[in-house]
Order: sequence, then C-alpha cells, then structure tokens
Amino acid sequence: MQRPSTDRSDPNPIEAADAASLAVHTQDLAKRYGKTVALSGLTMSVRRAEVFGFLGPNGAGKTTAVKLLVGLAHPTAGEAWVLGAPVGDLQTRRRLGYLPELFRYQGWMKAREVLGLHCELSGMARSEWKAEIASALELVGLSERADDKVEGFSKGMQQRLGLGVALLGRPELVLLDEPTSALDPVGRHDVREIIRTLKARGTAVFLNSHLLSEVEQICDRLAVVDHGRVIATGTMAQILGQDGAVRVRVTGLPAGSRAGLGEFGNLEDEGEWLTFRGLPSERVPQLVAEIVRQGGRVYAVEPRHETLEDRFLQLLKEQDQ
Ligand SMILES: Nc1ncnc2c1ncn2[C@@H]1O[C@H](COP(=O)(O)OP(=O)(O)OP(=O)(O)O)[C@@H](O)[C@H]1O
Ligand SMILES: [Mg+2]
Repeated sequence: MQRPSTDRSDPNPIEAADAASLAVHTQDLAKRYGKTVALSGLTMSVRRAEVFGFLGPNGAGKTTAVKLLVGLAHPTAGEAWVLGAPVGDLQTRRRLGYLPELFRYQGWMKAREVLGLHCELSGMARSEWKAEIASALELVGLSERADDKVEGFSKGMQQRLGLGVALLGRPELVLLDEPTSALDPVGRHDVREIIRTLKARGTAVFLNSHLLSEVEQICDRLAVVDHGRVIATGTMAQILGQDGAVRVRVTGLPAGSRAGLGEFGNLEDEGEWLTFRGLPSERVPQLVAEIVRQGGRVYAVEPRHETLEDRFLQLLKEQDQ
C-alpha cells in the first residue's frame, strides 16, 4: 500500500489520494509522557467502512492512540491522518464520533439533554437535533429512558448513552475506547449489532479492546499492540496463521528427545501434553511415528484450532523474550 507523503508541502498526488481514501493512516506515530513511552513507531491504516480492532493488554497504549487520533493529545513524533486530513483538523473532527474510555455526564441532566448538549457542541443545525437524538436513542436502546436523569442510570446504561453521543451526526469514523467494559452479555451483543449497522452504513469503526472474543467476532482487521508497539497486524487469518496446530498426549518419552521433535513445529511442552504449532496435517502420522520410535506412548492426538487468545498470548510471550 502506498503511504501518504511525510512531506506535507509537496504531496505526491497519488499518495494524497490514497490518504484521502483511508479512514486513518499513521506513520511512526509516537507519544511520550515524561519518561513513559506510551506509544512508539505506530504505523497503520484503517480503510473506510472497515471495523478495525486495536487490541492490547492494560497499559499497551490503546487509549493514547485514540486520543492522538481525535486530537486530544499531541504526538511527540510521527504523523497521522484522519479521513484524509492531518490530525487535529477542526473541520474533520466534526466527522468523527468518539466514545472515551472514562467519562461521566452531569447526573442532573436527562439522557435527551446530554445528547442535545452534544448536538450543540458539534455545531449541528438545530433543525436536525430532534431526528438525530431519536435515532441515536433508538440505536443504543435507550428510547424508553430518554427523559430519565443520568444519575439514575446503571453503568451499562451510561455506556450506551456514551455510545449514543458518539453516533450523533452520522460520523464517517467512530472511535470506541472499550465500548463494552461495563456491559453484560446482552449489552455486548447489542454493541456488536450496532457496530455491524455502522459498517453497513459505510462508517469506519476503530475499536479499542482487550476482549479478544469481541475483536475476533466483529473486526475485519486488527493490530495487536504491546508496550506502545504494534507486534502484529492484518486480518484475523493472517494473524492466526494458516497452518494448524496439534496437541499430543504422550508418556514415556526419554528426557532430551523432546527438543528433537521441534522440527515438526513450534513446540509447547506442558508435561504430558505437547502442542505443535504450524504443523501441516499431512505430517501428523510422521510425528506420531517419530514419537513412538523414540519410546513415547501416545494416548491422544487432537487437532487444535488456534484462537486469537492463544495467538495473542504467544505474541506477548515472544515479545518478552
Ligand atoms: N496522561 C498521562 N500521563 C502520564 N502517563 C500516561 C498518561 N496517559 C497514559 N500514560 C501511560 O502511557 C501508557 C499507555 O497508557 P494507555 O492508557 O494508552 O494504555 P491502554 O492500552 O489504553 O490501557 P488500558 O487497557 O488499561 O486502558 C501507560 O504506561 C500509562 O501509564
Ligand atoms: Mg485504555
């Protein structure tokens, strides 16, 4: 993929067109807070109408990335474009929706008033407010509670309201920072449905999450981030790898012979259970024969579908080595 030029004074027209066609593009984006490196060398692209997962453990730099993209924090180095414009561009901010990680609305306001306030803050024409507010309430399932005060809302209801605020004005890109952290399973399901509706409308969604199952279920592509760096990026299939894995339960293998089995794949040794990753299925009989030849007794051979969780933990482990 072509990247936008880093020299804004002399943009190459083809590259500029490419940047404009993307929802987000960052190039070596970095943020330090004093000595803390919150984000370093972040280079990634999010396409229009794509659901992009930004996945990482606590403190990885997810919130920092979103704050840089919405212009709430300034990068220490690197560049970023959002909807074709450099980050921080005020006109572009109107075309973004943002659900912050931590937020609190004034308890004495009604849900409808909170939404009205945000319509006003975004500069939306007053004639559009009513329809916009009704549509946001409907989408997040709060129509019945529109005239209740926020102080009487549960955490989950407040999170739905936050999501409603992020969807006002039909943004072209919505950045959601852990949108389901306070939601029960039904609420999580609803948020997935909302995200699918947004995608169908052509809205790009940037989803921060540490919930692997959530990312696995709805994201077209994702980046895995740890200690401020992207350690893997691509589609789910690319990140999980095409080759399968197999688990074998073995006893009686002489000490020292396990290492030799490493040629069959990336070996994870959990005592009686050995997992071989990246092993093509046609080599499984050969592997079993080799184990038996070495004196091992084989009790089970199970194909293993690698989940994003396995891959995630493995990536983090490799990173620490
Ligand atoms: N305003 C700030 N001042 C100082 N350090 C900060 C600030 N914001 C973030 N950091 C640091 O930057 C790093 C990344 O934080 P960030 O909030 O981006 O992580 P995160 O991936 O969103 O984590 P979580 O899953 O817990 O929300 C952490 O080490 C954090 O302590
Ligand atoms: Mg965060």
